[in-house]
Amino acid sequence: MNAKQLSPGIWHLAANISKDNLFEGLWPIPHGVSLNSYIVEGADIALIDLVREWEDAPKQLETQLKELGLEFNRIKYLILNHLEPDHTGWLANFKKRNPHIEIVTTKKGADLVREFYFIEDNIRVVKTGDKIDLGDGKTLEFYEVPNVHWPETMVTYEPASGTLFSCDAFGSYGSLTEKSCDCELSEKEHEFYEFESLRYYANIVASFSTFVERAIKALSDLEIKTICPSHGIVWTDRPQDIVERYARYASYYKGPCEPEITLIWGSMYDNTAYATDAVRDVLLESGITFHEYRVPEQDISHILAHAWKSQGLILGMPTYEYHMFPPMAHVIDMMGRKHVKGRKVFWYGSFGWSGGAEKELNSLIEQHKLGWDITGKADFRGRPTEEDIEKIKQGVRDFIKTVMESAKK
Ligand SMILES: Cc1cc2nc3c(=O)[nH]c(=O)nc-3n(C[C@H](O)[C@H](O)[C@H](O)COP(=O)(O)O)c2cc1C
Ligand SMILES: [Fe+2]
Ligand SMILES: [Fe+2]
Repeated sequence: MNAKQLSPGIWHLAANISKDNLFEGLWPIPHGVSLNSYIVEGADIALIDLVREWEDAPKQLETQLKELGLEFNRIKYLILNHLEPDHTGWLANFKKRNPHIEIVTTKKGADLVREFYFIEDNIRVVKTGDKIDLGDGKTLEFYEVPNVHWPETMVTYEPASGTLFSCDAFGSYGSLTEKSCDCELSEKEHEFYEFESLRYYANIVASFSTFVERAIKALSDLEIKTICPSHGIVWTDRPQDIVERYARYASYYKGPCEPEITLIWGSMYDNTAYATDAVRDVLLESGITFHEYRVPEQDISHILAHAWKSQGLILGMPTYEYHMFPPMAHVIDMMGRKHVKGRKVFWYGSFGWSGGAEKELNSLIEQHKLGWDITGKADFRGRPTEEDIEKIKQGVRDFIKTVMESAKK
């Protein structure tokens, strides 16, 4: 991407990371991800958020700074909204190139600058309401938004242009093309980034949903004309859309969620797979929106995205060594960690002699305080009989009704 002017004196810079990486060393990014930085130029110049030494991200950023004719030593302030290494990994080497730069961050951010990068000097600690006057009509104001995503996180606001530099809040996966503003995207491209923002939210931000709600409320008095997140597209045309979207995602934490079902299943020898065909038939007949994943073949990142918005979860799992099929235990454990709570659940699956999947399901629900309401189940020995299949089908029909009645209207 090239450096792109958003308004007089404000530029968007972005390093694209390719699909061959895992975000947080964990999440697949089949469409890549961008690490966004911003330049605000008054009489003094500030760089907002940095990159990690990841692929050639520092080089991409450096090239874009050069495009703007900006030597490193002309940048006076480095604003670090959030110390996670995706935005700071290059800090020590960047500082060597510009030893006089003043790092601006929260008190907790300053501790992390010392602990992660052994940098002690030229750190300015700011708190909510503090300002830096850059001259020529440009000001930076700081607002702490703890736990969106780490405890030290803040956002930066430039009042003359109404620009909010929101760091991880309002971000998404998906690398950027030259069409990096919401106003430039087609409906199809918006759909692409919408799902990538849901997946990003479910993977990275979901656990901190109450803090997201708090931050949205705390920032509601600002007149925001442009939102500049640290990942994904910039919102110049309809910034309220991404705020409303994040508020909706955060609301799934307490529920109710969308009238949708995520069906997750696994099978060793196709007995549970055979029952899944019946489950799918009923879902298709009903017309309800559903999302189907087989484990371990399909990845947890996508499963979490759809589970996060679905009021109903259907789990298909055979018994394995007196417990549930292990990949399903992994999925439920991850849903626990990411607070996919308060859902309606139906489960089914095959066992050989004793069963055991149910016991583990109950203990995982308890362990993670998931508060799931198991409204029905259908387990069966070996290959499901016609009677078993009928029971499963009726169970799913009843479950769909329960989901529709309890979901967001
Ligand atoms: C490695 C392995 C471990 C199993 N452990 C149990 C068990 O502890 N209790 C039980 O009732 N059945 C157990 N079974 C039997 C399966 O639950 C049974 O074969 C079931 O039909 C498999 O469903 P699937 O065809 O959907 O994989 C086990 C099967 C395998 C292959
Ligand atoms: Fe982060
Ligand atoms: Fe980030």
